[in-house]
Amino acid sequence: MTSSTGPRVVLIGPPGCGKSTVAGVLAERLGLAARDTDTDVEVVAGKSVADVFLEDGEPRFRALEREAVTQALAVHDGVLALGGGAVLDEYTQAALEAYAAAGGVVVFLDVSLAHAGPRVGFNQARPLLLGNPRAKWQALMDGRRPVYERLATLRVLTDARTPGQVAHEIETALGE
Ligand code: S3P
Repeated sequence: MTSSTGPRVVLIGPPGCGKSTVAGVLAERLGLAARDTDTDVEVVAGKSVADVFLEDGEPRFRALEREAVTQALAVHDGVLALGGGAVLDEYTQAALEAYAAAGGVVVFLDVSLAHAGPRVGFNQARPLLLGNPRAKWQALMDGRRPVYERLATLRVLTDARTPGQVAHEIETALGE
């Protein structure tokens, strides 16, 4: 069964797992649109995610992110990539559980530090990783892994695989 409203697929996972890139590739293959909640937040805030963190603080970012997720889950008929920390919000967790219970597909793009590192570049764009990016990424992933695994209806390892290969695996799981 697939969800009759909302996204065809929701992608979750940590920074560097390839959510945005895979969302674009998968959406193209399915003939659908890709959407990314980080971009939605940037449009509403009128500035980059990094600047929202810096100037307004993480709580403000999370509030904007929750609203972006709620909106996208309600109306986006395509592939949706969530910001890596969106799943920490209890309201978002409940919304994803309801989406999955209605037949929605939530894919956890799993990745190791060795492969996430080069993709993320550990630069200024990821405020949560500033300082000691590798250690911070690993701590963040260790803390979130149980949440990603609990909310996912499918887990796909992205280590050493191209976005096309990952998208193909998801497509196959969808029965496309
Ligand atoms: C965050 C991940 C980022 C962005 C923000 C916070 C996180 O998105 O939402 O910097 O808490 O992991 P990506 O997962 O797309 O990097």
